[in-house]
Amino acid sequence: MKIAVLGAGNMGSALLGGILKAGVVAVGDARATTFSEARAAEVRSRLGVSVTAGGNAAAAAGADIVVLAVKPGTVPKVVKEIRDVLNEGQILISLAAMLPIRAIEDAAQCRMPVFRAMPNIPVVVEEGAIGICHNALATLEHRAQVESIFRAVGVTAFVDEEQMDAVTALSGSGPAYIYMVIEAMMAAGVKMGLSREISLRLSEQTVLGAAKHARESGLHPAILRDQVITPGGTTIAAIHELERHGLRSMLISAIETATIHAGKRTDVLLAEIERQKHT
Ligand SMILES: NC(=O)c1ccc[n+]([C@@H]2O[C@H](COP(=O)([O-])OP(=O)(O)OC[C@H]3O[C@@H](n4cnc5c(N)ncnc54)[C@H](OP(=O)(O)O)[C@@H]3O)[C@@H](O)[C@H]2O)c1
Repeated sequence: MKIAVLGAGNMGSALLGGILKAGVVAVGDARATTFSEARAAEVRSRLGVSVTAGGNAAAAAGADIVVLAVKPGTVPKVVKEIRDVLNEGQILISLAAMLPIRAIEDAAQCRMPVFRAMPNIPVVVEEGAIGICHNALATLEHRAQVESIFRAVGVTAFVDEEQMDAVTALSGSGPAYIYMVIEAMMAAGVKMGLSREISLRLSEQTVLGAAKHARESGLHPAILRDQVITPGGTTIAAIHELERHGLRSMLISAIETATIHAGKRTDVLLAEIERQKHT
């Protein structure tokens, strides 16, 4: 499988690094592009693949999978650059937040499978959560190929495109919420007299361990929570405070607001792309 990653920035290079490490694609079969030569040289030396500043069409030509990892507003421009070399046998994957598949199809003018993926930043440690959707031309075989790529950097879930705003709000932005939880737990430990270092280490591991336990046990989180509560004990005293301050309600509202916001940002992005077409 030959892959071209157009826009090897934070997300593009993290994805490419994971794919190479997992052996899904061989180093010699991967190409990437950036805007600047400085960034190209940095990614080239870090990943050992061919990286050029510009040259998107040359990188995309002959690739089985072309990944669009530039900023959302730049995607239509890059797709237009490569559309003469695109063909129906290739797979196009966009990582751009908020950008609908129809905008990519419109720029590509090629009847080909188009996927849209929403990864999150833990892909850099191969623990990403990646929501994926696709157009009607994608077959089960295409889905399996795309899944093998994202499995190299995390856990995948296929959804309908109209659910991508919810994915963005839940897992795309989710790491920021959890970093806040870790930060707050660390501050609490410090307030109670623990050192910063010990407080941070215990907070991080508690989040990591609880997530791993939830996944591996397969039990509903409410059951797991109940299992650590002793009647009249310390945990229920803390949980009463969390309920009093509305922890669950707060997170539900935050994710609901972010979902609605993502929808509004899509409208703004599409209006901007439309405006660019006429300038
Ligand atoms: N970061 C995240 O957590 C995250 C999560 C989900 C989705 N995404 C999506 O991933 C995409 C990339 O985000 P990012 O955070 O990785 O941004 P980034 O670090 O700024 O990466 C964008 C890359 O695109 C390159 N680039 C710009 N114009 C180009 C062109 N004409 N041809 C080729 N390369 C070009 C830039 O090169 P230079 O470095 O040389 O300027 C840069 O390396 C976005 O669409 C974003 O919505 C990101």
